[in-house]
Amino acid sequence: MPEISEREQWGSKLGFILAAAGSAIGLGSIWRFPYITGQYGGAAFVLVYTLLVFSIGISLMMAEIVIGRRGKLNAVGSFKALGGGAWSIVGWLGVIAAFIILSYYGVIGGWTIAYFIKSFTGLTSHSSSGQIAKTFEIFVSNAGSVIFYQVLFMAATIFVVYNGVGGGIERLCKICMPALFILMLILILRSVTLPGASKGLSFFLKPDFTKITGEVLLAALGQAFFSLSLGIGAMIIYGSYLPEDSNIPSSSAQICFLTLLISIMAGLIIFPSLFAFNMEPAAGAGLTFITLPVVFAKMPAGFLWSALFFVLFFFAALTSSVSLLEVVASYFIDNFGWKRSRATLVLGIIITIAGIPSALSQGAVPINLFGKSFLDAADFFASNLLMPLGGFFISLFLGWKIHNIAKEEINNLSENSFPLTKTWLFILQYIAPICIAIIFISGLRS
Ligand code: PHE
Repeated sequence: MPEISEREQWGSKLGFILAAAGSAIGLGSIWRFPYITGQYGGAAFVLVYTLLVFSIGISLMMAEIVIGRRGKLNAVGSFKALGGGAWSIVGWLGVIAAFIILSYYGVIGGWTIAYFIKSFTGLTSHSSSGQIAKTFEIFVSNAGSVIFYQVLFMAATIFVVYNGVGGGIERLCKICMPALFILMLILILRSVTLPGASKGLSFFLKPDFTKITGEVLLAALGQAFFSLSLGIGAMIIYGSYLPEDSNIPSSSAQICFLTLLISIMAGLIIFPSLFAFNMEPAAGAGLTFITLPVVFAKMPAGFLWSALFFVLFFFAALTSSVSLLEVVASYFIDNFGWKRSRATLVLGIIITIAGIPSALSQGAVPINLFGKSFLDAADFFASNLLMPLGGFFISLFLGWKIHNIAKEEINNLSENSFPLTKTWLFILQYIAPICIAIIFISGLRS
C-alpha cells in the first residue's frame, strides 16, 4: 500500500473543483437528464430531482469527500481504514457499479464522437426533424460503427487515466467547461425563440404534481446519484487527493449547483425545440442526439455549431468517464499494488468488451433484459439500484460510525467553520437513509 504522504494532490483548489465538477457534469446532465425527464413527464420530475440534489445529494457529496480526504485511499481502502472490514463491501459495490456504468457510458461517449464527425457530413443540412431522427436510427443500427466509436471513446478515457490524476484531468476541465457553458447559453437563446417553443418550456418548468409516483421518485433519485457521481466512491477518490486546507462544504455546494445548472440548461435547449418541431419527449436514449441537430439546422453555419458542441460534449463526457475508470483502476492500484499503466489498460479493455452488448442493443441487435434494452437495463440496475444502495450505506457509515471524525474533518479550517454541521449529520443519520429506503421500496413496487 502506498505511503499516505506520497499520495498525489491536486495542483490547486480550483483544480479539485474543476475535476470534481468535471466528473459530475457529463452525459448525466446533457444526455441522461433530458431523456429521463422526457420519459417521466417533465417538470414534476425536475422539481423532485432538484430537491434531491440539494438535500441528499449535497450531503452525500460532502460525506464522500470527507471519507476520502480522511481515508486517503480509494473507496474500499478508505472504508477499511476508517471503519473496518465489513464496511469495505460498500466500496466494492461501488467498484462494480462503476464498471457497469462505464461499460455503457463508453457507448454514449462514442456517439458524441460520431456526431462530431457527422456534423461535417450533412447532419445539420437535413430539412426535417424526421430525417434527423432517421439518421440517428441508421447510425445506431450499424454494429460496426457504434462499436468503432465506443472503442475510440474508451481509448481516450484510458489514455487520460493512464497519464495520472493531476495532469490529464485538470488541464482538460479548465478549458472545456467554460466553453461548453457559453455555447449552451447561445443554444438556449436559439431554442427558446423558435416558434412554438413555449409548450416545451411549460412541459419542462410547470409541474403537474399528479405525475409524481413512486417510479418517478426512484428515477429522480437515480438521476441525482448518476449526475452527481455519488454512491460509488468516485468522490471518495477525488477527496483522497484533496489537501487538508480545502473547504469541503463550499466545494460541494459549487459542484452541485453547477451540475444542476448544466442539466437545466440542457433541458432549456432540448424541450423548447422538441415541442417546436412536434417531436416525442419520451423518445428514449436518443433524445439529445435527435433534438440538438434540429436546433443546429436552424442556425446559420449550423454544422460549425454542431461540431463545436459535440467536441465539448465529448470532453465533458470524457472528464466523467475518466473518474469512472479511476474508481475501478485505483482499487487495483491501491489494493493489489498494480501499476497505473497496467490497471488502466487491462481494466479499460475489459470494460470496453463488457460494453459491446449495450452498444448493439440500441438498434443493431435486439438484446433485451427485463423488458428493457440491454443498455437501459444496465443503466437502471446501476443508477437506480446500486448507486442509491451505496449512498444508503455511505450515509449510515458517516452518520453513525464516523460522525466524530466527520465533525472534525468538516470543521478543519477553524473551529465551527461549518455552521450546518448538525443539520448535515442529521440528514445523513436519518433523512437520507430513510428517504432512500422509502423511495427504493415505492419505486420498485410500482
Ligand atoms: N456524473 C457523471 C455524469 O453525469 C457520471 C458518473 C457517475 C461519473 C458516477 C462518475 C461516477 O456523466
